[in-house]
Amino acid sequence: MAILITGGCGFIGSHTCLEMMSAGYDIVVMDNYYNSDPIALERVRALAGRDFPFYECDIRDADGLRNIFEHHTIDAVIHFAGLKAVGESVQKPLEYYDNNVGGTVTLCEVMAEYGCKRMIFSSSATVYGMGNPSPLLETYPTGAVTNPYGRTKYVIEEILKDLCVSDPEWSVVLLRYFNPIGAHESGQIGENPNGIPNNLMPYVSQVAIGKRPFLSVFGDDYDTPDGTGVRDYIHVVDLAKGHVKATDYALENAGAEVFNLGTGKGTSVLDLVKTFEKVNGVPVPYKVVARRAGDIATCYSDPTKAKEVLHWVAEKDLEDMCRDTWKWQSQNPDGFC
Ligand code: WQD
Repeated sequence: MAILITGGCGFIGSHTCLEMMSAGYDIVVMDNYYNSDPIALERVRALAGRDFPFYECDIRDADGLRNIFEHHTIDAVIHFAGLKAVGESVQKPLEYYDNNVGGTVTLCEVMAEYGCKRMIFSSSATVYGMGNPSPLLETYPTGAVTNPYGRTKYVIEEILKDLCVSDPEWSVVLLRYFNPIGAHESGQIGENPNGIPNNLMPYVSQVAIGKRPFLSVFGDDYDTPDGTGVRDYIHVVDLAKGHVKATDYALENAGAEVFNLGTGKGTSVLDLVKTFEKVNGVPVPYKVVARRAGDIATCYSDPTKAKEVLHWVAEKDLEDMCRDTWKWQSQNPDGFC
């Protein structure tokens, strides 16, 4: 029994490869290296102390996918592969729909050809859009999304739900991530953004290591305790462990099921900055600037369903996330190289 992990060379994918192997699963990994580095998988092999098959393949390449299914009995797919930059998606919507939505349709078609009808999908809290109050519940309406990236996640969720209605043999677990940050405790793998980081934590760690002069805090006039944006930051290792539980669930059930993967706690930008400085003893200079278009004040999860159904709870706290991020960044100032 093997689990195919698409996009397994990326930030969340590489951490999930490790946790899946330590849970006893055999894995097969594919990635097109568009937003990842082969070194990450070399490090995963070293940390796991074992090898696994890898295929350089694009999810839109049906024959490339068939080649994988011809050579391996795949019982389920954990599907990470996709473009994920919010700002870029506004500039290049067709690329995002072709890659994320078209690629997922191709993947599902090939899966069905080989009788593999179990998928764990990397979705996002972004599908909740602007209108829902936090803490967010899985039953809240989705779809009022403000960017093409988020809309691809929403559309793919709807496609996978429709697939389960059309064929009751399908088992689909939709995992809505909140804000994944942190790194493996070894410091060997972590978040390795291309160019200028869009997200808060990688930017903070690049300021701390001296690659950036200061952090721009996007607004301090939100209706939050300190005026800065509040989010549900979750350690990437906790998120990876959530995928192990989701895979266990997908193998035992049928139909489509949605789960929030978050801590259920809200943390402001300045909370995170101050915790990072305290835990690591390093300054993170910042300047408050104008709000970023599309940002909302507050977004955090109610993770009760994942606790009750998947028997999963995030265990690591913000200090762990800051400490592990810094260890990764300090050991790899220029990322994988
Ligand atoms: C967090 C907070 C910013 C950068 C995004 C995607 C979402 C998901 C997670 C994929 C906000 C503030 C940020 C900076 C700042 N990705 N900030 N200065 O926007 O909650 O979610 O990443 O699924 O889809 O939308 O995360 O880290 O960009 O921002 O002040 O340089 O930090 O305003 O309040 P976000 P983020």
